[in-house]
Order: sequence, then structure tokens, then C-alpha cells
Amino acid sequence: MLASESHGSGIPLLFLHAFPLSRRMWANDKPAFHRHFQFITMDLPGFGESAPVGETATMEAMAAQVLETMNKLKITDKCVVSGLSMGGYVALQLLKLAPERFRAAAFISTRANADSDEGRARRFQMIDFIQKEGLKPFAERMLPGLLGKSTLGAIIPMVAQQVKTWIESADPKAVCAALRGMAERPNMNALLPTLDMPMLFLAGEEDATIPPAEMEKMSKLAMNGKYCVLPRAGHLLNLEEPVQFQETFLHFLKGHVL
Ligand code: MLT
Repeated sequence: MLASESHGSGIPLLFLHAFPLSRRMWANDKPAFHRHFQFITMDLPGFGESAPVGETATMEAMAAQVLETMNKLKITDKCVVSGLSMGGYVALQLLKLAPERFRAAAFISTRANADSDEGRARRFQMIDFIQKEGLKPFAERMLPGLLGKSTLGAIIPMVAQQVKTWIESADPKAVCAALRGMAERPNMNALLPTLDMPMLFLAGEEDATIPPAEMEKMSKLAMNGKYCVLPRAGHLLNLEEPVQFQETFLHFLKGHVL
């Protein structure tokens, strides 16, 4: 069972975190959601307080563990699943495995495409780098892809410091296992048009990792998709622009779920 937290009651909202972070990345969003919803966060396999994993952590295996944890938590009501980046890759697998368990989905700074050959090669270079240098220099390398220029240029770089500390505290083996798992994830574009549920596609205007145009394209595959871009936000948009993120998400939930 994955380490998880659940607060409040009502329609369950499940938040899945980005690579290589943990459920802590959603902690500041709790007050905005837990009064009207059951706010659930989980540490994906190998991250945060969840148990270590083997060589490769595939998105399918992560999704199977999320489902198992939902069962253990006795979540029987249909959920809204929300995944940021790697969390979105896992959300797509969940929706493939058990679409009947979900009423809506939010894809944040993520994609349905598989890695290109170059993208896959970059993941294996990252594994070599982590094995040689460790997570501290890896965190430094990752930051420009995770945070927008507005966040990186902040006078008091609190968000950047926080994200760096989180990356440094991850388990290097789990980070490498997730990199291998992301490298072999399948293209999920064909799934989106088959899912009859409201979907939110949220991009950060300053996201250098998954540019808004890519998310806009993804949103067009959905039967019932709403695409939004948050100004001044990069990849980790809920940490960078929390108020905009919460308002946009709550607006979607009010209009399509409640
Ligand atoms: C993430 O934020 O989860 C990563 O950018 C995902 C990836 O490396 O594809």
C-alpha cells in the first residue's frame, strides 16, 4: 500500500505528484479543497514514505498500486484524478485500467505521448549522472525545467529552495527506477477520445519542459476537454502560482463535477 493522506469528505479528489517529488507538493493546496471534497494525496512507489521499488517503476505498475491503495482506503465513490507531469502519466494508466472508478480528470503539465528516441536517451544520461554525481547536482540541473522564469527570478527564492531540498531528499534508486519507467511508457493518445468524462488540461505559460502548445494539442483529443494556461507559472504550477491554480481547478470542479 502506498503512503497516503486523506482529509475532508465529499467527492474524492486524488492528486498524483510530479517526478521526483512526493505528496508534499500538494500540502499547500489542502485548505482550498478539503472543505468541499475528500482531498487525497499519495506518494508514488519509491517516493516520499512509500516503499522502495525495483530496477524499473513502470507507469502501469504505479497505477496498479494507486488503485490498490484506493481500495484499501475504501474509496468507492467515483474520483476526480489529477496528475502533474509524471502523475499525469500514471493518471492515464489508471484511466485505462479502471475508467469506471473516475468521474473527471485533470492533466497538469503533462503529456500523452511516449518519449522520443532523444528523450529516452536523455533519461539514461540522467541515470548515469545520478549514479556518478548524486542527487544534489541533479537537483541543480533539474530546476530550470521545473520552474518558470518568474519563479526562478523571485527576489526570495523560496519555491526553488523547497523544490531543491525535496529532490535532494529522494531515494536515488527510486529516481532512476522512475526514469527507466518513464522511458518505456507507451503512447496514450488513443485513450483520450474514448473517455466520456470532463477533463481539465492545465499548462504553465513558462513551462520549458512541456510547453503549453503540447498540452493544447493533447486537450483536443478529449471528448469534453477544457484547456487553460496559467500566466507566470512553469512546470510545477501549483507551487508557483497556488492561488491561480486553486481557483482554476475549483472553477472546473464547480462547472463540471459538483
Ligand atoms: C515530471 O515533472 O514529473 C517530469 O518532468 C516528467 C518527465 O520527466 O517526463
